[in-house]
Amino acid sequence: SANVDTIKEKTLAIIKPDGVNGNYVDVIKKTILGSSFSITQEMQLQLNVNTVKSFYAEHASKSFFSGLVQYMTSGPVVIMVLEKENAIADWRALIGPTDANIAKVTHPKSVRAFCGLDLQRNCVHGSDSPQSAAREISFFFEKSSSAAIVSQHDEL
Ligand code: PPS
Repeated sequence: SANVDTIKEKTLAIIKPDGVNGNYVDVIKKTILGSSFSITQEMQLQLNVNTVKSFYAEHASKSFFSGLVQYMTSGPVVIMVLEKENAIADWRALIGPTDANIAKVTHPKSVRAFCGLDLQRNCVHGSDSPQSAAREISFFFEKSSSAAIVSQHDEL
C-alpha cells in the first residue's frame, strides 16, 4: 500500500514570545495535530541573548538582527519537532508569509494570520530547508547541543 514506503521528515517549529504570551500555544498545537503532523519533541524555555545570536547566526549582518534578538529573548518560547511526510514545506505553508500583516491579507487561514502581529512579531518559526531543519533540531535537542553549550557560557 501507499503507506509502506512513505518517508517521514522532521522540521523545527518555534512558537515565539508573542505567541506564548498571547495564549496561542494550545490552538497552534491543535492546528499542527489537525494537519497530520506528530509532535515528537517539545520544550518551553526562556532563550538568552547568546543562544538566539547563535541560532540566527546567518542573519547577523541584517538590519533587523538586534531587534530579532531582543524580541526572541523577551519571553518564553515553545520549541517543537514536527514530523510527517513533507514536513518542512508543509509547515512553512501552514504558517504563511513572514510578515503577519501580509499573511492576514494573502493567507487568512495561516497560523501567522490568526496569531501574528507584524513582521517582527510573527508568532512562529519554521525551518526553511532540510539542511536548516537538521541543524536547528540538533541545535535544541541533541545532548551536546549548541543551545546547551551557549547557555553554559551565559552563566559564566
Ligand atoms: S531574509 O533576509 O530573507 O533571509 O530574512 P527572512 O527569511 O525573511 O527572515 C529571517 C528571520 O528574521 C525575521 N525577520 C525579522 N525580524 C524582525 N524584524 C524584521 N524586520 C524582520 N525581518 C525578518 C523573520 O521572522 C525570520 O525569522 P524566523 O524565525 O526564521 O521565521
